[in-house]
Amino acid sequence: MNIVLTGFMGTGKSVTGRWLGKELGLPFLDTDDLIEEKVSMKIPEIFEKHGEPYFRKVETEVIRDVVSSSNDIVLASGGGAVLNEENYRLLSQWGTIVRLRASVDCIYKRVRTKFTRPLLADSTDLRSDIEKILNDREPFYDKAQFTVDTDDREIKEVTEEIIELLNSGDYGS
Ligand code: S3P
Repeated sequence: MNIVLTGFMGTGKSVTGRWLGKELGLPFLDTDDLIEEKVSMKIPEIFEKHGEPYFRKVETEVIRDVVSSSNDIVLASGGGAVLNEENYRLLSQWGTIVRLRASVDCIYKRVRTKFTRPLLADSTDLRSDIEKILNDREPFYDKAQFTVDTDDREIKEVTEEIIELLNSGDYGS
């Protein structure tokens, strides 16, 4: 069983993924961590020194590596990973895609004090930038097999819902 968590920045993919992995007895991986390990740089530094296209190239390489070499894991993907056609195809063939969803307000509260996300770091109107990027990405996130809301919810509750959905076997059309 492979589980891929997707969704916008600040929807809780990493914390939920870690918890979900523990509950299911599966290792947890995070594409952002794998990217940082691969190039020995933190994400902001990668964007600053090499730009977003380079980051996306490494992101795809990391996804190719994971799907060809790992099984029975929980994988959190970076918020922009599923926008790329190849990434989406590889991930959806390899695992069940679960999208974590949160409102603009909730995302805003979660990301406003963190400066580790280059796409939002220079924003002069954070709330409206979040809204705009989220709207643009909605069709990509929407393709997930399952969607779970994370607004005002404990990680444990979110994790339990994911497990119930996975066990239900109701993978839609
Ligand atoms: C990105 C999300 C980040 C990270 C990078 C780009 C995005 O991951 O991959 O800053 O395009 O949404 P998180 O979603 O884990 O913050």
